[in-house]
Amino acid sequence: MTEREQALIAQADDEVAKHEENIKNDPYRLTYHLMSPVGLINDPNGWIQWNGMYHMFYQWNPFKAGHGAKFWGHYTSTDLVNWKHEPIALAPSEWYEKNGCYSGSAVDLDGKLTLFYTGNVKDEQGNRESYQCIAQSEDGITFDKQGPVIDGLPEGYTAHFRDPKVWKLNGMWYLVIGAQTEDLKGHALLYRSGDGRDWTNLGPVAGAGIPPLQSFGYMWECPDMFSLGDKDVMIVSPQGLDPEGMHYHNTYQAGYFVGELDYETPKFHHGAFDELDRGFEFYAPQTTEDEKGRRILVGWMGVPDQQEDQHPTVDNGWIHCLTIPRELRLQGDRLIQVPVEELKDMRTGEVEHTAANLQAGSQMLEDVSGDVAELELTDFSDLPSFFEVELRGTARLIYDREGKVLTLERKNFADRLTEKRQCHLEELRSIRIFMDTSSLEIFVNGGEEVFTLRYFPSPQARDITFTSSEKAVVTVKKWGLKG
Ligand code: FRU
Repeated sequence: MTEREQALIAQADDEVAKHEENIKNDPYRLTYHLMSPVGLINDPNGWIQWNGMYHMFYQWNPFKAGHGAKFWGHYTSTDLVNWKHEPIALAPSEWYEKNGCYSGSAVDLDGKLTLFYTGNVKDEQGNRESYQCIAQSEDGITFDKQGPVIDGLPEGYTAHFRDPKVWKLNGMWYLVIGAQTEDLKGHALLYRSGDGRDWTNLGPVAGAGIPPLQSFGYMWECPDMFSLGDKDVMIVSPQGLDPEGMHYHNTYQAGYFVGELDYETPKFHHGAFDELDRGFEFYAPQTTEDEKGRRILVGWMGVPDQQEDQHPTVDNGWIHCLTIPRELRLQGDRLIQVPVEELKDMRTGEVEHTAANLQAGSQMLEDVSGDVAELELTDFSDLPSFFEVELRGTARLIYDREGKVLTLERKNFADRLTEKRQCHLEELRSIRIFMDTSSLEIFVNGGEEVFTLRYFPSPQARDITFTSSEKAVVTVKKWGLKG
């Protein structure tokens, strides 16, 4: 480790110690979601199960609850429920990463846990350079930086060139990386390597202006490519999509294409883009295949440049968190997200109302309330024309059966005015909600639609209220969740 790296890590550790007490007492601190101990967390990085152990790294600015020169923070877990915060994996100490060890991924290369990440460099005029770097570890905890393995920009592209996601197929290494053309179109480029160090650019596989897409954003961040069943899926976070009906209302989007990647041409033949999440805070997700063969996704519960200075936690020196891990499945060309099975181990104290009779109007159900809880609604019979679940007075999920529209409303962090996100929903069959002190993850119809968001109810608020336009019958279950 260089002296500079040691010094930066010591400064970050000081920051953690300085704010620990204050942050611990923040009622909005989450109980079972991964957060940075201080400062800002954004993208999940280097998500992998390596020699049995799950590793989740993350973009971290320890010095303020805002963006800056990013570190890689690090958590490990054996069971996806209990997580241990590990020493900092990467600090932006070297010339090729001095303005941030930006996002990337992890693989096993030569038996070592190997991180591929973007070294972000800016000069005084704000001109950017981008280096794709590697760092390796034998014990999975301390990393030995080896510097850039891709140090130039491809011709015709700007220095917005970042977030390598690496995988191995038939003895060859591949990576996709987010890029921006000189005429400001977002692309994903494919690279190939025999040894993981010497990389050849195979060209763009998908992007704005590449059929079937026309204009589709000025930058693509955090591409991820994997096969699921007999199809290939690309997840990506495009920037610069205009709102369209119920879609694209967040500052930036995160979604996916399903298709087939032809490694030779190379081209990704794909269908339409769909957002992964209908909520307010979801971006830059990353997936990994674990040792059980599951494709597991974790996202950042935040969006760059979206109300970031208005989160009430900023005053206490921290902001944002990651989502719970979700298993991905394909249903036709649709991705379904299901919270990983292991999360059921967090459940405590089950409350069940089998075939509960709801009256027309608003009501609460006995013992169905809480702040850190899981709520499940199934077996709707006689679905009313209008049905609503209100959570802690601050967010509401509303289904309009005639309009076939599902709406999520919440009170804005700053002015408390109502804002909403919506999606089309043919029929409502089930709702499963993961509530934490200041977050909601709402899985509808077994994960066909998901709404992820932060919310900041009064810390004492516990009420869960059901409102129905007519009499209705539904089975409601509720558990406490231990973090
Ligand atoms: C996405 C992103 C990435 C970049 C990282 C920097 O949120 O902008 O493209 O690598 O965050 O923190």
